[in-house]
Amino acid sequence: MSGLEVRPATAQDLGMVAGVGARPFAAGWSQEALAAELERADSIFLVAPERGYALARAAGDDCLLLDLAAAFDGGGCGRALLAALKQAAKARGCRRISFEASAANARALAFYQKAGAVVVGRRPKFYYDGSDAVLLDLDIP
Ligand SMILES: CC(C)(COP(=O)(O)OP(=O)(O)OC[C@H]1O[C@@H](n2cnc3c(N)ncnc32)[C@H](O)[C@@H]1OP(=O)(O)O)[C@@H](O)C(=O)NCCC(=O)NCCS
Repeated sequence: MSGLEVRPATAQDLGMVAGVGARPFAAGWSQEALAAELERADSIFLVAPERGYALARAAGDDCLLLDLAAAFDGGGCGRALLAALKQAAKARGCRRISFEASAANARALAFYQKAGAVVVGRRPKFYYDGSDAVLLDLDIP
């Protein structure tokens, strides 16, 4: 189990989030768009301070994961964020986390599947680079 702190994002975190979000395969949100997420009642916006973030929306049974990224690979940050997101989503009454990842993002697909996510669909040529979107669900027990 990771000892990394994960907490709700604040305005002071947005520079870090935008920086980490500029990584390949992360969604690359602007600070303005991120600031709007802080105001949304249905947003679940978590950070591992200086390390990474997860941004999602609670939508009934579904928690829609919009983006999750760590500043660097293999440090346990992704696992800590996903575990905290499951807790936060459960507290909002969600029963699963739904998301998509590029078929070209082998690392994220392996990471999510190791966490227990299952592939539930595919959107051909969904991304700008022509790669398919792989749709995944992670049940929240
Ligand atoms: C995907 C990402 C979030 C993973 O975060 P991370 O901090 O590197 O992951 P962790 O170090 O917490 O690893 C968690 C688990 O996934 C496993 N894992 C990670 N990459 C893996 C790979 N390529 N193959 C198999 N397992 C892998 C780790 O071994 C670890 O397993 P463990 O819990 O048994 O130790 C990170 O690589 C990232 O930010 N990538 C860029 C942005 C991105 O692709 N986001 C997803 C968009 S959909």
